[in-house]
Amino acid sequence: MYQQPDVESSYDKNDLGKSIYDIVIELNPKVVIEFGILHGYSTLAISQALRDLDNGGKVIAYDLFENYKYRHGTMEEVTELLKRNNLQDFVELRYGNLYEWIENPDEFDLLHIDIANDGDILKLVSESFKNKNILFEGGSKERDKEWWMIKYDRKPMYPLMEKINYEIINSDWPSISLIRGVK
Ligand SMILES: C[S@@+](CC[C@H](N)C(=O)[O-])C[C@H]1O[C@@H](n2cnc3c(N)ncnc32)[C@H](O)[C@@H]1O
Repeated sequence: MYQQPDVESSYDKNDLGKSIYDIVIELNPKVVIEFGILHGYSTLAISQALRDLDNGGKVIAYDLFENYKYRHGTMEEVTELLKRNNLQDFVELRYGNLYEWIENPDEFDLLHIDIANDGDILKLVSESFKNKNILFEGGSKERDKEWWMIKYDRKPMYPLMEKINYEIINSDWPSISLIRGVK
C-alpha cells in the first residue's frame, strides 16, 4: 500500500507520489531508472510500488548529490531513509550525471526524470529513447512559468506536448507527465 513519503519535495504539496506509485504499478517495470533523487521523495514512491508489485524489480536512482551546486541531498541521508522504510532491497543508489549516462545508458523499462526539467532536457531524453516509457516532472503550462524557468530563459516543455506525444497524468503543481513506450 502507498504511504505518502514524509520527505521535502515539490511533489509533496499535492502528493504526486501517488501518481508515480500508480504508474509504476500499471507499467509493471523490472528496471526503473531515476535521475534526480534530492531527499528521496520520488525514490520512495517508486520503490513502494516495486515492493507491492513483488516482481523482482528494482530502481537504479542517480543523482549528482553534493556535486550539484544548487539544492541537493546526500547519498547517506537517502540510504538511511530507505532503511527506515525497509525499502533498501528495491533501490540501488548511484552517483551519475544524466548527460554522461545518456551516452551509455542502462537497459530500463521506465525512466523517471526530475533534474530541474525544461524543454531541452525533455527533447534530449525523448529523442534518445524512442518507444520507451518516460515519466517526467512537469509538462503542464503552469509548470513552465516556474520562476527559474523565466529568470534563466529555459525552454518550456508544454509546446512539445504534441510532437513528443506526452500525456499529463497529474496536472496538480508541479505536474507529472508520461511518454508511453509502445510495447
Ligand atoms: C528537483 S530535484 C529532484 C526531486 C526528487 N525527484 C523528489 O522527488 O523530490 C533535482 C535533483 O536533480 C539532481 N541533478 C541535477 N542535474 C543533474 C544531472 N545532470 N544528473 C543527475 N542528477 C542531477 C540534483 O542534484 C537534485 O538533487
